[in-house]
Amino acid sequence: MSNDLPTSIIIFGASGDLTQRKLVPSLFNLFRKGRMPKKFRIVGYGNTAFTDDQFRAHLSSGMKQFAGFEYSEEEWNAFASGLAYQPGRYTDLADFKRMSEFISKWESGSGNRLYYMATPPGIFPSIIDLLGLTGQLQENGGWRRVVIEKPFGTDLASARSLNLQIHKALNENQIYRIDHYLGKETVQNILVTRFANTIFEPLWNRNYIDHIEITVSEQVGVEHRAGYYDSVGVVRDMFQNHLLQLMSLVAMEPPASFDANSLRNEKVKVLSSIQPLRGEIVAANTVLGQYKGYLEEEGVRANSTTPTYAALRLQIDNWRWKGVPFYLRSGKRLAKKVSQIVIEFKEPPHLLFPSSARSGMTPNVLVLYLQPDEGIHWRFEAKVPDTIADMRSVDMEFHYADSFGKTSIPESYERLLLDALTGDASLFTRADEVETAWGLIDPILESWDAQKMSPSIYESGSWGPAEADAMIAKDGGAWSRWQGHTG
Ligand code: BG6
Repeated sequence: MSNDLPTSIIIFGASGDLTQRKLVPSLFNLFRKGRMPKKFRIVGYGNTAFTDDQFRAHLSSGMKQFAGFEYSEEEWNAFASGLAYQPGRYTDLADFKRMSEFISKWESGSGNRLYYMATPPGIFPSIIDLLGLTGQLQENGGWRRVVIEKPFGTDLASARSLNLQIHKALNENQIYRIDHYLGKETVQNILVTRFANTIFEPLWNRNYIDHIEITVSEQVGVEHRAGYYDSVGVVRDMFQNHLLQLMSLVAMEPPASFDANSLRNEKVKVLSSIQPLRGEIVAANTVLGQYKGYLEEEGVRANSTTPTYAALRLQIDNWRWKGVPFYLRSGKRLAKKVSQIVIEFKEPPHLLFPSSARSGMTPNVLVLYLQPDEGIHWRFEAKVPDTIADMRSVDMEFHYADSFGKTSIPESYERLLLDALTGDASLFTRADEVETAWGLIDPILESWDAQKMSPSIYESGSWGPAEADAMIAKDGGAWSRWQGHTG
């Protein structure tokens, strides 16, 4: 199946936020870089009764607000001539037939089709059904691929049934489940740091690493998404996907090759080796919190116990990681927006320096800054000049902005859309990966429910509830305060 065939990108939910903020700016930037298929058309589908021109105007105003790059009117006009809109319902066979005819007419022969589900998740099954019933998933000459936005299910049972339903209509290699964290340059750089350098791998195990901390903190609250967020909470919204994905990239074995299956096999092995937290051990290894003022947010249920913060202490049962705690935390309305992975190494087994000289000594730390100040930080000990053997921690830092220029980091959707168009599923989550992750999350939430525990309230602008400090303090540690190079 050739990529030279006419290619249609059909976006369901095209009048929504995601299309305007992320999808269209990313597709436009691919177009500017000459990376779109030779002949393409982007067809928006949705309930809103846009004409083609109204759709283009709506997207053009979005570009002015959300594009993270400069562009000319000529470039936009050239791109916008490939935008079209089809109003329609998500449950109506006749509307889907009409769309099918509309696309076939433009293709006039074989064509490739990328269907993008940018709708609320409850609608995915109906869309897939109707696409199947109207023959639009049939690969006759051109390929058919479906990109599915998160959340993929709300627990293991719903993820399984969604997988079952989709697999009736499509093969796994036609399904692209999005986790936008995998599209981030710095997240892909975890693999390059680990596997394109020889200096880290010998140390990357229980013999040298004391613990690993993964933080994804946000300053924003639920904003206008309370309707969705209040029914899921932070554990489903962030841990089942983004944080567990980061953990599996940091902890996985080197894949034999860079192809989608090798990579995803290794990630699934890590996820399957994480000790599930269930029953009595949940309370000691998890902390849930809710920011003060959350209940007053519009759309939040009165007395909602939905967590907006969580911290988990996880262990991996394998040779590489046995006994190394992984602390994961994420929350809204925290002190700072930062995503980072802190790898703290063990202290030297024997210290030959006089104890007076050791007072300033701290363990070696490698920090992978994922955002906003993308880079890597390496802390080690150095001798203070003109002393007998005094030491102090010093830092070596790499910042993307210094080496590559800040603007060279594209929006994660750009990479993911390009990969879906070229048929590379490496940065998308496979069915078994999603299910294994839910299998870890479900018992935690069930146990909180069963034990009738409620999240602790924390101040907006803080680093979350004190219980999260206590959880890590039991191991003799503390959450690191790296938070970017200003530390
Ligand atoms: C999304 C969550 O997946 O990720 C949001 O649904 C969250 O609640 C967002 O705000 C964070 O993404 P980023 O790229 O800003 O770290």
